[in-house]
Amino acid sequence: MAQSPVSERFMQRCFDLARLGAGKVSPNPMVGAVLEYQGRIIGEGFHQSYGQAHAEVNALASVLPADVSFIPHSTLYVSLEPCDIYGNTPPCTQLIIQKKIPRVVLSCFDHSPGVDGAGAERLRNAGVEVIVGVLGEEGRRLSLPRNTFVRRQRPYVILKYAQSKNGVFAPPDNRQLWLTNEYSRRLTHKWRSETDALLIGANTALADDPKLTNRHYFGGSPLRVVLDREGTLPRALSVFDGQSPTLIFTEMNPPPPAKNLDYCPVPFDGQLAGNVLKELARRKISTLMVEGGIRTLQHFIKAGLWDEARVFIAGSYVAEGRMAPLLPEPPLEARRLGSDELLLFRNSLQSLNLH
Ligand SMILES: NC(=O)c1ccc[n+]([C@@H]2O[C@H](COP(=O)([O-])OP(=O)(O)OC[C@H]3O[C@@H](n4cnc5c(N)ncnc54)[C@H](OP(=O)(O)O)[C@@H]3O)[C@@H](O)[C@H]2O)c1
Repeated sequence: MAQSPVSERFMQRCFDLARLGAGKVSPNPMVGAVLEYQGRIIGEGFHQSYGQAHAEVNALASVLPADVSFIPHSTLYVSLEPCDIYGNTPPCTQLIIQKKIPRVVLSCFDHSPGVDGAGAERLRNAGVEVIVGVLGEEGRRLSLPRNTFVRRQRPYVILKYAQSKNGVFAPPDNRQLWLTNEYSRRLTHKWRSETDALLIGANTALADDPKLTNRHYFGGSPLRVVLDREGTLPRALSVFDGQSPTLIFTEMNPPPPAKNLDYCPVPFDGQLAGNVLKELARRKISTLMVEGGIRTLQHFIKAGLWDEARVFIAGSYVAEGRMAPLLPEPPLEARRLGSDELLLFRNSLQSLNLH
């Protein structure tokens, strides 16, 4: 469709609003909405927390009394197709029709069962002009976690790791090796605040004893997930401190659950990544960040079960060690973070058919 810079500006505002819901709305999508009357925003809102009002509802509720009479002459911009189903809240399509909004501009479709084009169709059948595709690529990227969860019945998987300038990932003897700077560390904690779960392998739990919580950014901490084939990780490790919900996948007969600690038996075979993701989806985990180590990352890469990778390249060289995993695609973007560089990768095979 023809896009005007003006409609793109309003849609961009929808995306900025939507992102304010990161980490609070899962497994729902992040959505932002803007109500525009003659070039002026008279209402705006976003989906703020799971089970609560959707973006469209919040945008309409924010309109000042002096502007209410303009609603039937306004355009509603929404980053994702409005829902057409009774979930935790009534359908947004109903509200748009009731408020007599004549024009709705969307970035992309919502592939959730029962929506997937039905929201747009309901509006058109009621005489609303519906335009789809403004900043479509960015909108689809924003909604990829949600659309991956509903279409593929698994969490959206982000691989995250660091390597030295010459590609070293870990020392030869599996000790901890701190590679990145303070900016990268802070950013990692921001990502933790936006993710439902973090996953590591047993050797990383032993070598690094990570807390796997968000301590350097606003917001909450994700579910901690650890692969512990033999169930032999020492209870003194931070992941067993009971401070944050933790799930251990093991091949052994699991012990009874304890405070904030649960176990799930699973065969540690070639299907491990797929089975772990299936179980996490059953627990309504819609985004997962895999934080290492090498074997664990390689397992997800080999299975093709990853959507995005965020790789820090530290500014220093390390003489010897185990090399970082290789990704099958080149990076799409590079950003500088002081002495570190952040490379962003996307698994193009997984985002196919989600558009
Ligand atoms: N640079 C970074 O960003 C970064 C991040 C995290 C960790 N690290 C470093 O990485 C090193 C640890 O890496 P690692 O490769 O040794 O271990 P790892 O990936 O942390 O742990 C391997 C664990 O996962 C299980 N596992 C994973 N995939 C499996 C599969 N396909 N089949 C069976 N079991 C599977 C293994 O079981 P079994 O061992 O029982 O077979 C083992 O429990 C440490 O030195 C740590 O400091 C670096």
